[in-house]
This record gives sequence, structure tokens and C-alpha cells, in this order.
Amino acid sequence: MLAKSLFILVAAKAAFSAVVPTSFILVGDSTTANGTTPNSGGWGNGFCGSEITGNIASLVAGTPCINTAKNGATTGSFVADGFWDISLEAMWMELAKGRRTLVTIQFGHNDMKIAPPESMGANLTEMVKQVRGLGAEPVLVTSLTRRSFNADGTIADTLGPWADQTILIAQQQGTHLLDLHAASIQYVEAIGPDAAHRLNRLPDDDTHLNVNGTTVFGRMVADLMDASFPGELPIISNPKLSSEIENGIPAF
Ligand SMILES: *[C@@H]1O[C@H](CO)[C@@H](O)[C@H](O)[C@H]1NC(C)=O
Ligand SMILES: *[C@@H]1O[C@H](CO)[C@@H](O)[C@H](O)[C@H]1NC(C)=O
Ligand SMILES: *[C@@H]1O[C@H](CO)[C@@H](O)[C@H](O)[C@H]1NC(C)=O
Repeated sequence: MLAKSLFILVAAKAAFSAVVPTSFILVGDSTTANGTTPNSGGWGNGFCGSEITGNIASLVAGTPCINTAKNGATTGSFVADGFWDISLEAMWMELAKGRRTLVTIQFGHNDMKIAPPESMGANLTEMVKQVRGLGAEPVLVTSLTRRSFNADGTIADTLGPWADQTILIAQQQGTHLLDLHAASIQYVEAIGPDAAHRLNRLPDDDTHLNVNGTTVFGRMVADLMDASFPGELPIISNPKLSSEIENGIPAF
């Protein structure tokens, strides 16, 4: 009896102390970025929360969540144009406060327009090493799918090789991986084109997200993150939306 209550006490303490003060930094292209103008709008607002778009956050109130993703960026241009320095600075600031700092990195949408997947892969590897060098934790994320459908209702996917490359680098470097590409394809194929297109930033823009789109895919990322770090992160639950995503039911 005593041994059992002692065990429960120890288990409860372990569960309680598992969530350490944590910050999130987001790195990527427009499909992560938090813009509200045409040709922008990714899942960041739905993950971090935004007063501007009216999104509730997927994170416990007060959790720093700094979206440094940039519209139009490739892994190469993100570094060359100085945005990576802004991300590194944000990591340094959060680490200096003694916070566990997780850095999501998602590219592919623009990299695919300029180079083979291996070029993005080499750049992702360098980013992972620099994040770790600072003492933060990289989390690689595969590209959010575009919502372009074939006549048979499947997704007309062009991002697969870039998603596969991201998975490969995650394996080589031993990082956490969120397979958003696979999860988002599974969901939009389940809800079908009409419901999927209701999440578009503009009706004929199958890439960027409106406020409902960022709510759905921000939650999808939060759920993938929670599954990858069970019980460790300050993620709040949204049972209704998570169940709709899990079961392929349109949320909007
Ligand atoms: C986007 O993020 C930046 C940096 O965190 C912030 O200054 C800006 O207000 C955000 N914009 C929106 C639309 O949430
Ligand atoms: C990767 O970075 C290099 C510079 O280090 C750049 O030349 C190349 O274009 C980048 N690749 C992509 C896909 O952005
Ligand atoms: C988001 O969903 C709500 C509820 O269905 C709807 O009223 C609203 O018009 C949608 N917003 C956009 C931008 O489609």
C-alpha cells in the first residue's frame, strides 16, 4: 500500500515536472509565416495564436512563440537575406532566459522551384547543426500540402521528394520530425476539395491559408508536436478540432 502510494507520488511528480518553461521559434516559408495579405498565410498563427487573425493559440497562455518564417523563402534565400540571423537571435534570447527552446524548420515550397531536393537537404543539415550549437532543439517539419486535387479526389502532389528529403535529414541528424505533409494530405483527401478549398487564403490560392485554415493546420502541427514529445510541452488540447482532424471531418 505504502509502496503503491509512493509510486503514484513519484509518478505524479515526474509528470508535473516534465513540462519545463518552453519557447517555440518557427522557421520556414509562407506556409508557416503569419501574414494576412495575399500570397501569405501559413499554420503559424494557428499554432502560436494571433490577436490580429483572431486565432486562439494551441499553446498555454504566455508561451513565447516567435514566427520568423518568411514568404517566398528557400533554405538558401532565408539565410542569404538575413532571416536566419533573426531566427538565431530569437533562439539566443529565449535560451538566455533559461527556457527550453524548440525550433520548427519547414521548407520545400520554394526550394522545389530552384534546385533538386539534396540542395535543400544540405541546407537543412546546416540549420540543424547551428540550432544545436546554440543549445536549442531542431524539429524538422515536412511541407504542408497544397490543396490541388486530381479528378479522382487524390492530391496532385509535387512536394513528395522534398518531404522525403526532410525525413531523410531528420533520420541522419537524429532530430524530431513532424510529418505534416503526410498528415495534411490524409486530412484534405478525407474532407474533399470543397471543404479543403474553404481553408484557402483566396478561393484560387491552394497554397496559403485563411483564418480557418491556419486554425486547422496550426492544431494539426500542435497535435503532431504533442505526439512527438508526449507530455513534455505546454500544448493545450482542443478535443473537438483534434477529433475532426483525426477522423477526416471538415471543421469549417
Ligand atoms: C507576425 O509575427 C511578427 C513577429 O512575431 C509580429 O510582429 C506580427 O505582429 C505578426 N503578425 C501577425 C499578422 O500576427
Ligand atoms: C542552399 O544554400 C546554398 C548556399 O549555401 C545555395 O546556393 C542553394 O541555392 C540553397 N538551396 C536551396 C534549395 O535554397
Ligand atoms: C471560417 O468559418 C466560419 C464558421 O464556419 C465562417 O463563418 C467564416 O466565414 C470562415 N472564414 C473564412 C475566411 O472563410
